[in-house]
Amino acid sequence: MSDVQQDGRVVAVVGAGPAGIFAAGELAQQGVRVVLINRDVKPGGLAEYGIYPTKYKMKEGLRDQFRKVLEHPNLAYYGNITIGEQGDLTLKGLQEMGFSAVLITAGAQGTKWLGLPGEGLTGVYHAKDLVYHYNSLPPFSERPFAIGQRAAVIGVGNVMADIAHWLIHDKKIEQVTAVARRGPGDVKFTKKEFQGFARNLDVTAFEAELARLRPMLTAANQDVDKAREFILSALPKADPSDSDTRFGFRFMASPVAMHGDANGQVQALEVEETAFTLRPDGSVKLQGTGQTHLLEVDTVVFAIGDSVDAQLGLPLDYSGFAKNPHPQFPIEEASYEAYDAQKGEALPGIFVAGWSREASSGLVGVARKDGRNGAQAVLNYLATLPPSAANTAEAWQGFVAQLSHPVVEKADWKKLEAAEAEIASGRGLPEYKFASNAEMLALLEAE
Ligand SMILES: Cc1cc2nc3c(=O)[nH]c(=O)nc-3n(C[C@H](O)[C@H](O)[C@H](O)COP(=O)(O)OP(=O)(O)OC[C@H]3O[C@@H](n4cnc5c(N)ncnc54)[C@H](O)[C@@H]3O)c2cc1C
Ligand SMILES: NC(=O)c1ccc[n+]([C@@H]2O[C@H](COP(=O)([O-])OP(=O)(O)OC[C@H]3O[C@@H](n4cnc5c(N)ncnc54)[C@H](OP(=O)(O)O)[C@@H]3O)[C@@H](O)[C@H]2O)c1
Repeated sequence: MSDVQQDGRVVAVVGAGPAGIFAAGELAQQGVRVVLINRDVKPGGLAEYGIYPTKYKMKEGLRDQFRKVLEHPNLAYYGNITIGEQGDLTLKGLQEMGFSAVLITAGAQGTKWLGLPGEGLTGVYHAKDLVYHYNSLPPFSERPFAIGQRAAVIGVGNVMADIAHWLIHDKKIEQVTAVARRGPGDVKFTKKEFQGFARNLDVTAFEAELARLRPMLTAANQDVDKAREFILSALPKADPSDSDTRFGFRFMASPVAMHGDANGQVQALEVEETAFTLRPDGSVKLQGTGQTHLLEVDTVVFAIGDSVDAQLGLPLDYSGFAKNPHPQFPIEEASYEAYDAQKGEALPGIFVAGWSREASSGLVGVARKDGRNGAQAVLNYLATLPPSAANTAEAWQGFVAQLSHPVVEKADWKKLEAAEAEIASGRGLPEYKFASNAEMLALLEAE
């Protein structure tokens, strides 16, 4: 651990996505020494491995910001280290090294399955895994994904839009159907994201789908015309299309099972039709009708949001890692303090921020703000502590030294970035990413 000096207070930040990087930067700027630990070799999290691959300008802008933050001499970076029950070090082990506080900004790495029959069939995937795959994050980049010709994507948020974009422009498959348990007025994707593939919308089928649902939706006070207008408003400025993929929506349909063939390959998605009914107070209730239908598809992607990773060793709540409902160090009325609801106790010195605090919630700017707020909660906590006598730096260095695999520090990351830039320039590409850890680590070892 060349860049962390020995003595005084050290904070561990677990996860170097936008939340962790900006939290670590805030702490470092306030004079706290930070060990920033990251599962992935390179920092950036979903900003590097989630944002759609062709958004080069946005991603490079974010990398520039990350580079500036990570330059701070108080901040040491350790990539290729996983914290958790199945990781290189448990959270408890990390705490025992004497860190004055631990801030968890590990994103939402859990896979949110619904527990439906057929989830294990070939061709059934969670969006996160596919997103990591096409964004070249090892080891997802190295895993095979069987993508067929007719895909159902469950959910109608921006992640659905990214997956549809990839299936249409990269895989150029025959048909993509976005399956929504609610109506056209409840889509969550933005017009801008839809414009990336709206040319592939089968407008005739879309109009027929609205006509099918109009009586029920109108009876439940849903404004079908407004919803139609929003979706079709993406068409005039939609990007040109390079594929014949037909894109469509199946509204008011909730997945209940996937059915496979004798080889374990998915061949149909079973959905239950849903309906809106009006409650006496005028509010709308979503209900299953009991009527089911089979959609003949060979690929099913769940784009329904992510959950946090229980193996990190912290209790969970409905939205992320559990937060102290009565925070001692609230920021903007939000709690950043980890909590054990079963014992009814806060977990002193452990904080959560970003998508670890609220899974699948918001854009990079939201994660940046949440990371900084989390750092402020940590600073307020540190202000209540007596001076630290722990030799955390030495304990951490001892741990890193005994690891049986390489660890990636700031200087190594810069070498990787330089090597990627050189390859991109040599091949005339806007960007190049190493798609395996073995490649990256071999390059560093060779140097
Ligand atoms: C498909 C997709 C596309 C998106 N596109 C956009 C977009 O175009 N524009 C936009 O503004 N926002 C976009 N977002 C949202 C944005 O990516 C998130 O808001 C943001 O990245 C969340 O930041 P985070 O730091 O909380 O988590 P993450 O970005 O997920 O970072 C978590 C970090 O923690 C590390 N980690 C995980 N587990 C461990 C562990 N056990 N030990 C150590 N380290 C660990 C990971 O390696 C990772 O580096 C997108 C999100 C998705 C899913
Ligand atoms: N380009 C971008 O800017 C970009 C790209 C990707 C992601 N993001 C951001 O990342 C965050 C997460 O995006 P997201 O798309 O994962 O989440 P999201 O916007 O919350 O959308 C999730 C979708 O899944 C559906 N869903 C959830 N649980 C379901 C269930 N049990 N059964 C059926 N459907 C279910 C939701 O339907 P209901 O409405 O019925 O719950 C919703 O349509 C968002 O803030 C998003 O804006 C941004």
